[in-house]
Formats: sequence, C-alpha cells, structure tokens
Amino acid sequence: MNGDGDETRSPWWRGAVVYQIYPRSFLDTSGDGVGDLRGIISRLDHLARLGVDAIWISPFYRSPMADFGYDVSDYCDVDPIFGTLEDADRLIAAAHDRGLRVLVDWVPNHTSDRHPWFVDSRSSRDAVRRDWYFWRDGREDGPPNNWWAVFGGPAWTYDDRTGQWYLHLFLPQQPDLNWGNPEVVASMHDVLRFWLDRGVDGFRIDVAHLIGKDPALPDQPAALGQLDRVGIHNDPRTHLLLRGIRRVVDSYPGERVTVGEVNLHETSAIRAYYGQRDELHMAFNFLPLSVEWTAAAWRDLIETVERELGPGAWPTWVLSNHDTRRHRTRLGGDERRARAAAVLLLTLRGTPFMYQGEELGLEDADVPEERRVDPGGRDGCRAPIPWTPERGHGWPVEDPWLPWPPEAGRRSVEAERDDPGSMFHLYRALLIERRSSPALSQGEIRVEPSPGGILAYERRAGDDVRQVLVSFADRELDVPLEHGWTASVRSAGEAPWDGRLQPNEAVVLRPR
Ligand code: GLC
Repeated sequence: MNGDGDETRSPWWRGAVVYQIYPRSFLDTSGDGVGDLRGIISRLDHLARLGVDAIWISPFYRSPMADFGYDVSDYCDVDPIFGTLEDADRLIAAAHDRGLRVLVDWVPNHTSDRHPWFVDSRSSRDAVRRDWYFWRDGREDGPPNNWWAVFGGPAWTYDDRTGQWYLHLFLPQQPDLNWGNPEVVASMHDVLRFWLDRGVDGFRIDVAHLIGKDPALPDQPAALGQLDRVGIHNDPRTHLLLRGIRRVVDSYPGERVTVGEVNLHETSAIRAYYGQRDELHMAFNFLPLSVEWTAAAWRDLIETVERELGPGAWPTWVLSNHDTRRHRTRLGGDERRARAAAVLLLTLRGTPFMYQGEELGLEDADVPEERRVDPGGRDGCRAPIPWTPERGHGWPVEDPWLPWPPEAGRRSVEAERDDPGSMFHLYRALLIERRSSPALSQGEIRVEPSPGGILAYERRAGDDVRQVLVSFADRELDVPLEHGWTASVRSAGEAPWDGRLQPNEAVVLRPR
C-alpha cells in the first residue's frame, strides 16, 4: 500500500471523491446573473445526495475578474459578486454539517495587477515591495527574455512609470510574484493560515509548478519557441517552496490536504512534485483530458500512471474542469461514451475530481461570438448549471452571464433526479458502490488481458474484489470471464450480467 505519514491508516482524501464548483456558474441568488456563495450553500444537499466527499471551490476572492477570479486582489476577502466573508464561513460550516470537506483554490504564482502589493511594487523603483514581483530592464527595445504568456503575446509588459518591464506568465493583469523573496513566502503562508484558521480542509494550488524561478530568468531554448510556454518553468526551486507550503498545511490537525495543478506532460516529471511525501499531497493528472477513446490508449495511460508514480504518490483522475472542453463534448456528445467514462473515473486507483455538471452529462455551451468573455476561450465548459427544467432553470434571471448548455431542461438537476435512468443516477450508483468497496476506493489495480476493444482491470483490497470492463467498441462484444460475477453497476442501465457488453458500455462486477 502507498502510505502517507502513518502507514497503518489511510488519510481521508485517498478514498475521497472531490467535486469542483466553479462559483460563477453554480447558482445565483442575488439576481445579477453570476453565481454566488449563497447559491452553493443552498444546493449542498444536491452534492450530499450525489455522494461526493469534498468540494473544491474555484476562486471567490476579491478580483477585477480579468481571469474570472484567478487574478486575486485580496486573498483574505470574498469578492462582493460572490458574497461576504461571513458567507464563506457559513458555507464551510454548512458543508461540514453534511460531512463534506472544503478545499479552496489558492493562486500563489501571480496576483492581480490591482493587488495592493503590486500597486506598491509598480509605484517606484525604490518601492518597499518592488522586489515582490519581477522587474527587469528590456533588451534592445524588447522584453527582457523570450518567454511567452499562456494566453498569448510576450510574458512581459513595459511600465512607463519606472521604465522597466514586469513578468506575467498569464495576462498582463496577472503579474508573477517573486517567490525568491522571503517576504512573499511569509505573506503567502499567512494566506494559507487565514483559510486554515477558518476551517478549510485544504487547497487546490493553481499552477503549483510555476512558482520557483531562476532569478536570472534565462531565455527558453529556441526549439521550445512559443509552443511549450510553461514547460521550461519546471524549476528545481519550486520543490523547496512546496516543502515550506506543506509544512504550514501539515502543522494543522485534521489531515488538511494540497492538490496541485502541475501542468506538465510527463507523469515522471509530475511525480517529482510529491517529493518524499513532503511536497504536494496530490498532483493533478491531466493526461485523461487528451487521451483517445480506445482501449489501447487507456490501458497505456493507466499503466503509465501506475509505473511512473510508483508507491508513495497517490494518483488523481480528472475528465473535465473549468479550463477545457467537457469530456462529453470531447467524446462527440455521445451519452454512452460519457457514461462509460464515468465508470473509468470512479473506479480507477486514485482520487477522482469531478467537475460540476458532469453528473448531469452536460456538454459545453455553444457560445456565440458576441457573448464570449474568457481570454483563454474557455467559456463553453463554464456554462451555468440548470437546476430545474423550466425557463431560467432555477436561476433568478433567465439569461445568466453565459448561455445555457445544450438540452438544459432535460439535463437539469430536477429532471435527472426524477429519472432513474439518468446520468445523475449512474454517478450516484457508482459513488455508492465506491463507498461500500475498499477495493474500489483504496485497493490495488491490475490491468488484465482482454479481447480487442475492451479494457479490463481488477481492483482488490484484501478479500474485497471488483472487476471492471469497459468497451470502447461501437458494437456488442462477448467477454468470456472465468469466475462467476454479478453486475454492481452497468453504465448502459440496470441488467443482470450476461457476459455481453453493449456498445461503449462499462460494467463493475463483483464476485457472485
Ligand atoms: C490555472 C487555472 C486557470 C487560470 C490559470 C491562471 O490554469 O486553472 O483557470 O486561468 O491557472 O491562474
């Protein structure tokens, strides 16, 4: 078994399923068409009924919203659009009352350009906080180095006032903090303590792999060009910084947890961010966001994760989030595939992260040009959650900040709750099965030989065993199995196990 600290007992987050809330789009209660914290509080019962263990809430801090909250101007207050600090306290308490843990999003790599720290930093070359950000002279009328920003253009903006350039790996409104400065480290640790003191159970750490930087800020190798914009910033200094962050989090009781966004392509590189169990507790594994829908590609992915993470680094699984097209959309909108994907997500070895609305089988909204607002082109997956079938879908306005996703009425929470064959009930059944089975929530995984078009794996913890079969084929397939098995969950709908998989069907089997 992979341990973490005490080998004899497993921390809560290893058996947990985490549900991501994108607060702008969850539910509005104030009538401005943007979701808020009270909206989340009012629908926690939906999440408790669904059966997840924890929520991660995307940023709700004070922000000018250039990057919809990922540009923070005050880490220790709630933006009025989302509510108040008291609402945040109420939300944490209300979630805990229902047995749900709460992770908040912490954005350490950059602040907003309106953060008082940056306002001071840019005010003069002698400002107290000048060195809290990266200010450099340019080269021959151009920026100080050849780095590119994730959202396009150079990663540098020239500031007239002091005649120097500042670094921003994202938007110009998101200047990078200089974690080489001990005062920045101390101030950002204080932010962690602020939320830990308020009772949060942990943090999702935004672009955790970017915070360490070589102060010489050397050019990227020309070959990387503008393609791999952030790959070069996988700097060894980050690991030291993550150890400091881990010490703060671990100094609190109750197994507080960190899960970091480590946006690197190689699992072996991601492995390094777990450290010797003294850096991130978990790192996101984003490979499933781009894997092909074939048995061979998924087998390869699972084996890569198992091999490269090895013991000591607990895996994570993600199909959708607020930064990328929803998996149902990526899978061509096909409901059968989306259902089979849900089985994969919730039966692989590791902690699954769900994205709001995937339990309804939502697809990306088709956002007309004139309504697009995100600098990164990610509006479609951020469409509002429909709660009821009728117009307005339970929101106080008919037309929220982004358009509704397709078939919003039929795929609303209320409609799906009343339909035992819905995506919602499939997720619920899988979550119940997972919770009742140590094999599924914590056990070993073994990928098994299987006929073409099918992925088969066994999960095992002691005497508890499950067999999972996933068909990637568009036709029915026979699966000869040696032992007597009975179906716990079938993605194509309840039916006894007869040794045949429907097209794109996944099944969880237990010994008869
Ligand atoms: C992360 C967030 C994304 C944001 C970026 C900059 O990738 O998930 O939404 O735009 O960081 O903070």
